[in-house]
Amino acid sequence: KSIKIFCPATVANVNCGFDALGFALEGIGDEMVFRKTKTKGVTITKITGEKLPMEAHENVAGVAGNAMLEAVSADFGVEIEIHKKIRSGSGIGSSSASAAGAVFGINQFLENPLNNLELTRYAMKGEALASGNEHADNVAPCIYGGTTLVTGYDPFKIIALPPMDTVYVGILHPHITIKTKEARAILPKQVPLADAIAQSQSLASFVASLYEWDKELFQESLKDALVTPHRKQLIPHFDEVKHISEKNSCIAHGISGSGPSMFCLAFAEADIENYLTESVALYISNGLKVDSYSSRINGEGCRVI
Ligand code: HSE
Repeated sequence: KSIKIFCPATVANVNCGFDALGFALEGIGDEMVFRKTKTKGVTITKITGEKLPMEAHENVAGVAGNAMLEAVSADFGVEIEIHKKIRSGSGIGSSSASAAGAVFGINQFLENPLNNLELTRYAMKGEALASGNEHADNVAPCIYGGTTLVTGYDPFKIIALPPMDTVYVGILHPHITIKTKEARAILPKQVPLADAIAQSQSLASFVASLYEWDKELFQESLKDALVTPHRKQLIPHFDEVKHISEKNSCIAHGISGSGPSMFCLAFAEADIENYLTESVALYISNGLKVDSYSSRINGEGCRVI
């Protein structure tokens, strides 16, 4: 018997919550198929859509899956097919979807299934292979769905934040490569106190705005004093694209995770469509390839389909 799952793409950081916030995108994601086997451990039998390692120890799904199978002392293994729809290196949680999908899929075979927090912990092991450090801001929303906040790692805790019903998202993926490791390496190790204060205010405002659903505060909170000013130089035409988002009454624009994708939020779908159309035209006129996606912010987490 096989189980097929959907694992969504995700946007990490969301400007004000570096390494802390993330949300799942609706309708954009990978599919994975699982079969229980007598042979222990993960065997990857098929990968479509992307060229990725088939060896379990070199593949984020294999690493995350094996970490979980070992931790629960499973007396079985799994064969996994990975059907990638999320482009690798796009910055919308491609590796996280595979890592989160692996643990979510394996969980379906357990008599005593693990909870979302435990699943996130093992998915992070796979994420570490791709990005060089264990962080949960993509894998958590991929597993929980909606918007999540990583409150810390010791103790490790995830808060599922209230949904934002009326927010539309546009994703723009210029075809350039940015390695997460490099995008982290360019960040300063120390930040000015004034920037740290501004960032704390923004993140706190973001969380408060969701509990109250205060649209104005929500919009004001989506700023980044710490990371985007350093990373934006890695993304061609970032400022022009941001200008396009403002011109079209969008409420926020920023880098999705470590890029190169950018996300744009709006209260009206038409604003996102205009943002995407104009931004795509800008990239094409500059001879750059770009993908664009229109989505919603309240995507469900991993699920059996
Ligand atoms: N929070 C991470 C970063 C997400 O921005 O480096 C990318 O994996």
